[in-house]
Amino acid sequence: MQVTMTVNGKSYTRDVEPRLLLVDFIRSELALTGTNIGCDTSQCGACTIHLNGKAVKSCTVFAVQAAGAELTTIEGLAGTGLHPMQQAFWDKHGLQCGYCTPGMIMTAVKLVERHGGTLSEEEIRHGLAGNLCRCTGYQNIVKAVQQAATEMGGGD
Ligand code: FES
Ligand code: FES
Repeated sequence: MQVTMTVNGKSYTRDVEPRLLLVDFIRSELALTGTNIGCDTSQCGACTIHLNGKAVKSCTVFAVQAAGAELTTIEGLAGTGLHPMQQAFWDKHGLQCGYCTPGMIMTAVKLVERHGGTLSEEEIRHGLAGNLCRCTGYQNIVKAVQQAATEMGGGD
């Protein structure tokens, strides 16, 4: 089947098998390998991207289901400089091996966009519950999200 979607502002058309997962499409067809695969049970969140403005685990979606969609991956998050969430993870040492980090950041961006600067630690931990990190113990990730929330402000 032929699918067309916009990823990081650029349109891509590819012939794919109906069973191809979106995460595999992103990594193999588009060579955007910042989106990681960390499990085969849809639990780790390493594959999280933005699909039509929502944080989605891209291993839970077939590529054909994203036909016509607008996607952002970690590679498309930065503007002229790092996104405030990327900068905050850097500043607060919110990573060690970095494997979970792209997915963690993509989830955290949408969490902050929803709640703005009013996020409590409990809300951050709850909001990131679908993203697993085996290295950090989460404390510095929470600090990073708090910093980014302050800088990004906003909220609905
Ligand atoms: S690879 Fe998608 S949730 Fe783990
Ligand atoms: S930094 Fe290693 S899994 Fe999170």
